[in-house]
Amino acid sequence: MATEDRTAVFDAVVAAADYPVLLVTVQADGRRAGCLVGFATQVSVEPRRFLVGLSKRNHTYRVAQRAERLAVHVLASEQLSLARLFGGETGDDIDKFVHCDWAPGPGGVPVINTVPSWFSARIRDRYDFGDHVGILLEPEDGAASRRGAETLHYHAVADLAAGHAV
Ligand SMILES: Cc1cc2nc3c(=O)[nH]c(=O)nc-3n(C[C@H](O)[C@H](O)[C@H](O)COP(=O)(O)O)c2cc1C
Repeated sequence: MATEDRTAVFDAVVAAADYPVLLVTVQADGRRAGCLVGFATQVSVEPRRFLVGLSKRNHTYRVAQRAERLAVHVLASEQLSLARLFGGETGDDIDKFVHCDWAPGPGGVPVINTVPSWFSARIRDRYDFGDHVGILLEPEDGAASRRGAETLHYHAVADLAAGHAV
């Protein structure tokens, strides 16, 4: 298979999977940051571990380099304005936290108050995957809403232009 075909098929398969999109936040040295992520999944059961992929170009990545914790938020399907704020704007240009309802959580990590579910986690390791860095997380706190609520997935935001070029 030609390289272009391979890439197109892979992109189509990943799009068909329609994965959840999550909102991650960090703080370090008094700076807050956060962005929308699709590259995020649990990677171990015992111990519980979760991996988030952050683009090296993102403001969030730069703050996360010095952070001890990260918070991962599940969005409800109707929370498109939060998705647009965190996925379509960059902390290089605006303070996203002026435009949403949040409070400091464990270790000062910003927790968005309006989401159905979230967890905070300690950053255990970082892996250079190429244009993204994998942040390995050990969960430590959080809150979960009842199961079955509709959550935000890729197709709902597929037309959203990322605030920072990848
Ligand atoms: C559907 C979608 C998925 C995204 N997934 C990721 C991701 O997994 N990792 C990442 O670093 N950025 C991802 N982005 C891009 C960032 O959310 C976006 O560039 C954001 O504006 C970066 O903000 P920042 O510069 O304040 O960190 C995604 C954007 C969209 C619209």
